[in-house]
Amino acid sequence: MEKEKVLVLFGSPRHNGNTRAIVDALIEARNFEPEFVFVNQLNMKGCQGCLYCQAHGGECKPKDEMTPLYDKIKNAKKIIMAFPMFYASFPGEYKRMIDRLFAVSHMETDGKKNYYGSFWPKGRDIFVIVSHGNSIEEVYPSIVKSIRYMCIETNSTLKGWYFSPPCDFFDVKKDKSYLSDLLEAARDF
Ligand SMILES: Cc1cc2nc3c(=O)[nH]c(=O)nc-3n(C[C@H](O)[C@H](O)[C@H](O)COP(=O)(O)O)c2cc1C
Repeated sequence: MEKEKVLVLFGSPRHNGNTRAIVDALIEARNFEPEFVFVNQLNMKGCQGCLYCQAHGGECKPKDEMTPLYDKIKNAKKIIMAFPMFYASFPGEYKRMIDRLFAVSHMETDGKKNYYGSFWPKGRDIFVIVSHGNSIEEVYPSIVKSIRYMCIETNSTLKGWYFSPPCDFFDVKKDKSYLSDLLEAARDF
């Protein structure tokens, strides 16, 4: 049987650390065929806020290593967004990629309020994996909220998320007892 393809937008600078162990566990269990994009290696600017995109059908003006990623993300059926928690949020390079996706968002306004949609057609199921040292659960909703916002702006569907066990105390590379929770979190993905 042909494997289901999944695009992994991988956010840790440590390519074989905790985040990778959890991503690999899901890929193996679900027999996915992954394509990894190591976001920390991409040479790209952050969003410059020029709004060129809004007058040009979602085309981002700066041309760099984010440029080919737009089509890759647009055309992917399934995407795993995986990153370690840094300061209760995304690693900087990951946030930069998310900010650049603003290009495909489509703002409309009634003069009092802005409404956000997308230049992209509906698609892209997204599953989020966050590894962290020992964060307090209160920080989870803000990360999920940011991803939900990104899903609206890219017309993608958030299919679930998984926050790791506390990796300061729990060796996710050796102890796979979290796997059933991970698979349950990804059941709709
Ligand atoms: C710059 C930096 C900031 C971090 N901030 C947090 C944090 O706010 N909360 C937390 O629980 N862990 C934090 N951590 C720990 C990492 O999220 C954790 O070790 C993660 O599992 C690392 O994943 P990796 O091995 O894939 O890089 C931080 C680590 C670094 C290097």
